[in-house]
Amino acid sequence: MHPMLTIAVKAARRAGHIISRASLDLSQLTVSTKQQSDYVTEVDKAAEAAILEVIREAYPSHAILAEESGSLGPQSDYLWIIDPLDGTTNFIHGLPQYAISIGLAHKGVLTQAVVYDTNRNELFTATKGGGAFLNEKRLRVSKRARLAEALIGTGFPYRSFKHIDAYLAIFRELTQKTSGLRRPGAASLDLAYVAAGRLDGFWEFGLSPWDMAAGALLITEAGGLVGDLTGEADYMSGGNIVAGSPKIFAQLLRVLAPHLGDELK
Ligand code: IPD
Ligand code: CA
Ligand code: CA
Repeated sequence: MHPMLTIAVKAARRAGHIISRASLDLSQLTVSTKQQSDYVTEVDKAAEAAILEVIREAYPSHAILAEESGSLGPQSDYLWIIDPLDGTTNFIHGLPQYAISIGLAHKGVLTQAVVYDTNRNELFTATKGGGAFLNEKRLRVSKRARLAEALIGTGFPYRSFKHIDAYLAIFRELTQKTSGLRRPGAASLDLAYVAAGRLDGFWEFGLSPWDMAAGALLITEAGGLVGDLTGEADYMSGGNIVAGSPKIFAQLLRVLAPHLGDELK
């Protein structure tokens, strides 16, 4: 395993212990609201602190972008992109679909990825050029060729409703043109599931870099494609993402195209 991936896995497991322990008694949880429908708990913060400690000890000269702390560290070609608890709303409700997501970019290119689902003990990892894995098993995106047979993941808008009409128009069409849509509630895991072939594709508007970084590398290393809503590479800064196996990715883009106003292109 690449030494930087080893550190990412160590950090994810530390955070995993904190999250698993806290999940045993959710009545103790203090929940605060960052903005409408956007929650944070002391568990998100403690998990992030544990991740930062491991990474900073190993790589003090690297930069960090973490959901709860923002940008940290010196200027560096290396940037760790961290979501200590992706799926906080599920976590608060005791709905066991959440994960820790840690990605590393070097000069803007994603090179290492970990998405760790503590509930199922599923550790998704990838190194650029080295493939994607679920625990020990090599991952490939699904082989399904037709959108009509595809199971597609998404995230419903719940914080910003700026693009709700476009979203619902796409939803209306895809719910009729696919074999089903799913909204599990943790984007990093949704992307990991595309890498694993459990979902054939995925789209969501308004994500943050820490929701996507690790999952995106998992998908490309599993033979899939990731892009913005027009299929370009700009998803990390824009936050609008489409992903899938190459065949399903192309068909998703064709469905989306007529529904995109200028601000979504
Ligand atoms: C959220 C989850 C969710 C997605 C949201 C994210 P958080 O992350 O990934 O699936 O729909 O857009 O913000 O807030 O639980 O880390
Ligand atoms: Ca998140
Ligand atoms: Ca989070």
